[in-house]
Amino acid sequence: MKVITIGSFKGGTGKTTLAAVLSTALTLRGFKTLVIELETSTKPLARFEACRDFADLSHPNVQDLLCSGGQPDVKDWQIMFRQEMTEAERRGYDVMIVDTASVWKPEVIAAHLMADLVITTVTESPIDLYQIMPTSGPSMQASRPYAQLIDLVRRHAAQNNRHDFGWFMCINRRSHLRTKVGDSVREQLESFTENTNVDLIYGLVDRVGYRNMMATGITPLDDVEGEPVQKSLLAARTESNRLVGKVMLSLGLRAKTLESAAA
Ligand SMILES: Nc1ncnc2c1ncn2[C@@H]1O[C@H](COP(=O)(O)OP(=O)(O)OP(=O)(O)O)[C@@H](O)[C@H]1O
Ligand SMILES: [Mg+2]
Repeated sequence: MKVITIGSFKGGTGKTTLAAVLSTALTLRGFKTLVIELETSTKPLARFEACRDFADLSHPNVQDLLCSGGQPDVKDWQIMFRQEMTEAERRGYDVMIVDTASVWKPEVIAAHLMADLVITTVTESPIDLYQIMPTSGPSMQASRPYAQLIDLVRRHAAQNNRHDFGWFMCINRRSHLRTKVGDSVREQLESFTENTNVDLIYGLVDRVGYRNMMATGITPLDDVEGEPVQKSLLAARTESNRLVGKVMLSLGLRAKTLESAAA
């Protein structure tokens, strides 16, 4: 089983939306997919799952993970995640996706430490940059930039002789318009990702088609009979498929047919 962790220390970069699209795309390709949502107060993905179930659309299974007792630290969460992974493997899951919250919390760190692939979402905004990399300018700098987490995970991997995990920095919620500020953020991300050995990729464009997903359960990947197929929906479908292709390649996942998955 492969584990994908979706993270960023900046809220609203589209982690949960990406988790919904990616987990649906993998499910539609025949991979048995489990989603762990760490956002347990609002549970957007549980709602997404319920909506798909109601609409009779195939869906990933969504669960949350509760670490009870005291104040669990990173090691406690690592134990919890390992137990969850063993159980998921026993139940025949191919992929587990962890959708994290935008804060430096033990469970978020633990989720990054156990991933085969981390996807860090970022939008083309300078504020997102300050959450990621150290800056020397006036202080918009996050007290703990995401770069520190990348460092921590790399050191942990080296100590454990793990060199086989991937890391995508995913430019997400992109605007259709090309702007100077967007270009400048992208250039800075290019040099940051080169220095940290992270792959810079494009994620989802900012589109209406993604906005209603948590309320309807319907993603741009679903071909719903009777619904008009607009150009923007097809573009969303193409970019989602492109993204899932990159994820599968990085994890060495070979496409399955639905028949073989059901067997
Ligand atoms: N590609 C997109 N196109 C249009 N709207 C989007 C897209 N991605 C996310 N959104 C919208 O942006 C808002 C934030 O998205 P989302 O909840 O996925 O971000 P998040 O990173 O999970 O946020 P948080 O840090 O609060 O968990 C939501 O209203 C969502 O519908
Ligand atoms: Mg979220």
